[in-house]
Amino acid sequence: MKNILLLGSGGRECALAWKLSHSPLCGKFYIAPGNAGTEAYGINLPISYNDFEGIKAACIQYKIDILIPGPEEPLVAGIYDYCKNDPELKHIVVAGPSKEGAQMEGSKAWSKKFMERHNIPTAAYKEFQLDSFEQGVAYIKRSEPPIVIKADGLAAGKGVVIAQNTVEAVKAFRAMVMNEQFGAASKKVVIEQFLDGIELSVFVLSDGTNYVLLPEAKDYKRIGEGDTGLNTGGMGAISPVPFAGNAFMSNVTERIIKPTVKGLKDEGIVYKGFIFFGLIKVGDEPYVIEYNCRMGDPETEVVIPRLENDLVDLILKMEEGKLNEVAVQHSTKAAGAVMMVSGGYPGDYEKGKVITGFEKVKGSLLFHAGTIANGSHIETNGGRVIAVTSFGTDIKQALAKSYENADVIQYEGRYYRKDIGFEF
Ligand code: AMP
Ligand code: GLY
Repeated sequence: MKNILLLGSGGRECALAWKLSHSPLCGKFYIAPGNAGTEAYGINLPISYNDFEGIKAACIQYKIDILIPGPEEPLVAGIYDYCKNDPELKHIVVAGPSKEGAQMEGSKAWSKKFMERHNIPTAAYKEFQLDSFEQGVAYIKRSEPPIVIKADGLAAGKGVVIAQNTVEAVKAFRAMVMNEQFGAASKKVVIEQFLDGIELSVFVLSDGTNYVLLPEAKDYKRIGEGDTGLNTGGMGAISPVPFAGNAFMSNVTERIIKPTVKGLKDEGIVYKGFIFFGLIKVGDEPYVIEYNCRMGDPETEVVIPRLENDLVDLILKMEEGKLNEVAVQHSTKAAGAVMMVSGGYPGDYEKGKVITGFEKVKGSLLFHAGTIANGSHIETNGGRVIAVTSFGTDIKQALAKSYENADVIQYEGRYYRKDIGFEF
């Protein structure tokens, strides 16, 4: 039995908590800081996932064997190295990459260069900063719009601008490098070619040499129906992805997954953890839009329910470098998640709205995101509130069940998109 500490407080973490807590290998289970949903599966600790000292104290106090960082921030800040360099923590299995490996997500310029070195298909690009501002403007003027401008570092999902003309592109570029719109994260900028296609998310768990492929997913990022309006953290997800057939997925494996895992290994980069490939299918060809060093949210809310293997066992096999011995099993059922959000999100919204109707939910999994327990009530505590996930023989059936159950959960200002999976 292994004592586990999971870091994070979103729907992703609630889905991971649900899965981990059902493992026969799971001993004492803690979530820091967690939410009102994770409390059903383990003990929430009031520690921020960026508070390394607090995490260390909890690891010692609760005799933690496995640490699983949900979000990217602690990974990019080096939680892996922090543990491995500390005599009191170094025995802990950390399911995530070293600080060097986390640059896959932490620096777009780094990940673009990595892909270039390993011949992994991605959009053509150049990297600029303040001292190459004029060259950047010239590059924009030579480029065919739309032009994609990306802050190098972490920018809470807001660091990408798709400019429809060169004037807009120069404006976004200037705001990032001259005015440091995203602080240090936008001192460096990647300017890249726009790829016209359909996006999907592919996940593996890597032990540094071998990997297991998890179910793929598609998320719905825009706030409005028909994929309109502002970008959000994600309004819903489906798995499997109908347009990711066997031929396409074997192309993804050969051209993207294998060279990525091998490239990390060949460069001596310590990476035992999840790799999230943000892909775009252009014609029949896959390209990498971005790497993330963690699972996706809300993709996890459909991927993890479709994973039939024991996740604790997979993480232990990862640590031993034995993922080649695992036969990964994906459910043949489809899963669909609908994200219920606060009114006003992704702009300003109010928190503290009492949520009712939980007892009427039948046949779906509820993965809490922004919720908090307040006495006998559960209240909203974030923009994304609850993911409602259901299984079905196909995506339509899964989503019909999720919609049936989303409808009975009530709180002031409640909103969710009614068209998740609309194209299938
Ligand atoms: P990223 O933060 O890199 O995932 O970018 C955010 C979103 O911007 C992606 O999910 C895509 O929808 C879009 N995007 C990023 N790069 C490109 C590109 N080169 N071509 C088309 N769309 C892109
Ligand atoms: N759903 C996209 C992400 O987690 O970054």
